[in-house]
This record gives sequence, structure tokens and C-alpha cells, in this order.
Amino acid sequence: MRPYWVQGFPVCRGGSEWVVHFGGRLEIGLRGALHVRVERLTARADACRLVYVSDLHLRRGRSVLLSRRVVEAVGGCGARAVLLGGDLVDGASELGALSALVSELGAVGPVLAVGGNHDRRVGLDRVRAAVEDGGGVWIQDTTYRLSHGSRLVSIAGPGAAVPGGGDVRVLCAHHPRVWHWARRAGYDLVLAGHLHGCQVVAFAYRGRLFPGGILYSNCCESRQVGCSRLVVSRGVSDLVPIRWCCPREVVVCDV
Ligand SMILES: [Fe+2]
Repeated sequence: MRPYWVQGFPVCRGGSEWVVHFGGRLEIGLRGALHVRVERLTARADACRLVYVSDLHLRRGRSVLLSRRVVEAVGGCGARAVLLGGDLVDGASELGALSALVSELGAVGPVLAVGGNHDRRVGLDRVRAAVEDGGGVWIQDTTYRLSHGSRLVSIAGPGAAVPGGGDVRVLCAHHPRVWHWARRAGYDLVLAGHLHGCQVVAFAYRGRLFPGGILYSNCCESRQVGCSRLVVSRGVSDLVPIRWCCPREVVVCDV
């Protein structure tokens, strides 16, 4: 097999379906800059750029650093709106830090947020209040309609009714399992995170990342079925900050 590079990582490809990471990058800690991944659903000149940020896991002792890294990464994206995809805080002590981060990100555009399983432990009502205190919009059970030139982008939370109308329909979620119904419901873009322990990538097979793919069927970077694309973020942070060939990231999507 002949080695080549993908996003800075040395890999080997065997046939057209396997990608093996044999000398990948080990990342320990949270100090490094976030990778900015770009997913293009359209090549049109008036594409609407969204940036999806998931799995912040703000917790005591790391919130200031993580917030700074998020603001740095998002600030240079040129996005029209910021979508926060859940697992925002790991403890109630960090709700103030979340409000401050949302407030800072508001300089980019509307900040829309949904919760994840870690936010449920803190209390979705409390996390929602923190987002709204920072000037953000909680879209867990509702749809935000974003005007972009002559186009309308509908951005729904996982508990919202599937939006009718609009030029582009986006589902902002946390858990990738929503993909099974969302693609049939007509969403053009489904955003998810929820890395949860899958921060070691040894190889990819048919787009799935392993060994995480053994536990999670949608452990992948992205997947396209018909007109619907699933994009799974590798997130900003983890409970255990050790990674292999799995960069901490935000994801820019042109729709
Ligand atoms: Fe999660």
C-alpha cells in the first residue's frame, strides 16, 4: 500500500473502501486550535454558510480555554449562523460560561442551540436559560427561519415538526441516530455530534470509522443518501482528552 495524506494524517488506502491510519496524530489535552472542517452541499455562489459546534463539555477548569478556542475557530469561518449541537455543559457551575460564550458568538450571527444527554443531567431548562441569557435561541422543539438573500433556510431542532417550505431544511441535533428518520423526512442536512468515546480512529471502511463503528452505526464524518447528507462532528472536547487521528473540530456547512 502506498501512503498519502488526508487532513494532515498519514494514511494508507487499500482498494477503494479501506483507509488505514498507521502513523496517526496523537493529541493529548485541549490546548491546540480546533480543526475547521468544510462540508459543501452546494457550489452556488449564494450558498448560506453555517457553522456547527458540538460537544463543548464545558466544565470547571477548562471552560475558559475551550470557549477561547471556539471563538477563534468560529470567528474566521464567515458563517451566517452558529449552531450549537448539544452536550454544552457538564455541570451547573458552567452555565455562566455558556452564557458568556453564546454572547461572544452572537457577533457572528444568530446562535441556535439544542441540548444533549449531558445537558439533560444539568437540566435542559437551565441550559436553555443560559443560552437565552447570552442572546441565543433555543430550538430544541422549534424551527428557526434564516433569510439568506432570496433564500430561506429552515433550521429545526430534534423535537420540532419537520419544517414545510423553505429552500433548505437543516436538522440541528445531537445524537446521530436521528439520521434514520430525518433523511426520510426530507431534511437536506442533518447535523449531529455525540462522539462519546470514539476519539480513536484506527481505520475507515466504507466511510465508517473504527473501532467506534462497532458500537455506533453512524460513526462517520459524513454520509449521503439521495438528497440528504448526515454530517457528524468530532466535537470540541471529551471527558478524557486523548485522541488519535480524530481532530477536535467545528464543521462549516455551505447549503
Ligand atoms: Fe452526547
